[in-house]
Amino acid sequence: MSDIDVGTDESGIACVTLNRPDKRNAVNFAMWQSLGDIFECLGSDDHVRVVVLTGAGGYFSAGADISEFPALRADAKQGAQYERAGDRCARMIKSCPKPTIAAIEGYCIGGGLGLALVCDFRIARTNAQFAIPAARLGIVYGVFDTRNLVDVVGFSGARRILFSADRLDAGVAKDLGLVDELTEGSAMERARALAGRIASNAPLSISGAKSILLGLAEVANDALEAQAEALVAKALESEDYKEGVRAFSEKRSPRFRGR
Ligand code: COA
Repeated sequence: MSDIDVGTDESGIACVTLNRPDKRNAVNFAMWQSLGDIFECLGSDDHVRVVVLTGAGGYFSAGADISEFPALRADAKQGAQYERAGDRCARMIKSCPKPTIAAIEGYCIGGGLGLALVCDFRIARTNAQFAIPAARLGIVYGVFDTRNLVDVVGFSGARRILFSADRLDAGVAKDLGLVDELTEGSAMERARALAGRIASNAPLSISGAKSILLGLAEVANDALEAQAEALVAKALESEDYKEGVRAFSEKRSPRFRGR
C-alpha cells in the first residue's frame, strides 16, 4: 500500500489521502517530494475540478517525520535541503490552479498544519487538534510557512500558535479563523459537499479568481527571506534542536537552554 493515495471521481473531485496512520500520517521526505508532484499533475488535469487533501485512519497528519531528522535534517546544510523539499511541496499545493480543501480529523500538527494552511479551505471535525510545535523541537518556522499562517490567522493568532506551541482544539481553531467549517460528523463528507458545489461552477472563473487572489496576497521580502534563512540555520545547529528531537524519540519533555 502506498503512503499517499489518489483518486478522482466522475464529477472531477480528486481526493489525496496521506496514508501512514500507524505514524499518525507523519510526512516523510519521499512523501514531501511525491505530494508536490501529485498536486502538480492534478493541477494540470482537465478532468479535475477540486482537490481534497485528507489523512487516513482518523488523523490528518502529525507533521514532518521526526524519526528522519537525525539522518536527513541533522544540521543547517541538510536542514536547508529538507526545507526546500517541504517548501516546494507546499508551493505546489498553494499554487494549484484547482480549488483545494483540507478535510481534517484528529491531529493536524506541524508540517501537517502547514499542508492544511496552503489549501484554500479547512473543514474540520470537532475532534481535530491543531499545533505548530516548532518551539518544542528547537526549530525556527520558515518565512513561507509563517506567511501562510499569518494569512489565515493574522499576527496575533500566529504569535499564540508559534510561541505557545499549544495543542488547540477545533473550537479554538475555529475562533482563530484556522478552520472555515466545523462539523460533528465526517470532515470528508462536508468537504465533498463543498467540492461538489464548486465543481459545478465555471472552471475558468475559479482558476481566474484563484490566480488573482494568489497574486494579491504575494508580498516579496528578500531581506526577510535572507535573515530568516540565518535564523533557521542557527536553530538547526543548536544543542536545543538535538535535545528536542532526542526528547521526542525518548518520549519525554525537552530541556531547552537557548543555545
Ligand atoms: N514523526 C515521526 N513519527 C511520528 C510523528 C512524527 N511527526 N508523530 C507520531 N509519530 C509516531 C510515533 O513515534 C509513534 O510511533 P511508534 O508507534 O513507532 O512509537 C506513532 O506515530 C504513534 O504516535 P504516538 O505518540 O504513540 O500517538 P499519540 O496518539 O499518543 O500522539 C501525537 C500523537 C501526534 C500527539 C504525538 O505523536 C506527537 O506529538 N507527534 C509529534 C508531532 C510533532 O512534533 N510534529 C511536528 C514535526 S516538525
